[in-house]
Amino acid sequence: MNKVFPNPIMLALDTSSLDEAKSLALKLKDHIGGIKLGMEFFNSFGPSGIKTIKEFNIPIFLDLKLHDIPITVYKTITTLLALEPAIINVHASGGKEMMLAASKALKDSGNKNTKIIAVTILTSLDDNDLHEIGFSETSNELVLKQAILAKESGLDGIVCSAKEISTIRENIGTNFMLVVPGIRPEKDNANDQKRIMTPKEAILLGADLLVIGRPITEARDQILASKEILEQLK
Ligand code: C5P
Repeated sequence: MNKVFPNPIMLALDTSSLDEAKSLALKLKDHIGGIKLGMEFFNSFGPSGIKTIKEFNIPIFLDLKLHDIPITVYKTITTLLALEPAIINVHASGGKEMMLAASKALKDSGNKNTKIIAVTILTSLDDNDLHEIGFSETSNELVLKQAILAKESGLDGIVCSAKEISTIRENIGTNFMLVVPGIRPEKDNANDQKRIMTPKEAILLGADLLVIGRPITEARDQILASKEILEQLK
């Protein structure tokens, strides 16, 4: 397990209920490494909602998947850094210039605690979906291309599926944070995720953080579900 996040579970709190988010944060904060707040939460409660969850003293991954022209991304990152999230992300498909702008925003802010990572190919897409959109490469090839661009742009890591971890580690090495969604403990429902893997397999392959939502939030006993995942990782 990595030093920055000793507990690799990044809980995806996808909800538009502030009460639900607060009660899950309180219940699970000692069993997880951080909380991922995404578009549903941010569009419901904005910066003040983020500050509310930060009060539980847990690292926040602000998953807004920014994708816009470089100057807009620069200014947005500058604004979001005021919230002191542990991680912010942009879409790698926004291109190198956009990722360089994100990286410059962090540098210019003087913030030394926030990591900026790039979302590569969403784990809900498989190779058939990619062909349908117009890509001729496989997800593995595209993720590697985007990972190299993210690294060259000075970003701290990427979001990818567990299926691409080995390729990334072989080509880029270990000094690059891999944040991996699409995690399903054995026998769990895949839901809308297509490129999935178990928590243990993903960590053994070299994931740094596991984004896990529904396998915990929809479990009958959410504390037990988190504990069982951690137990599997030992
Ligand atoms: O574990 P579960 O499937 O519920 O996790 C869903 C979360 O993972 C959502 O918040 C989604 O935004 C996030 N995510 C993803 N695939 C990515 C990046 C983030 O599923 N590539």
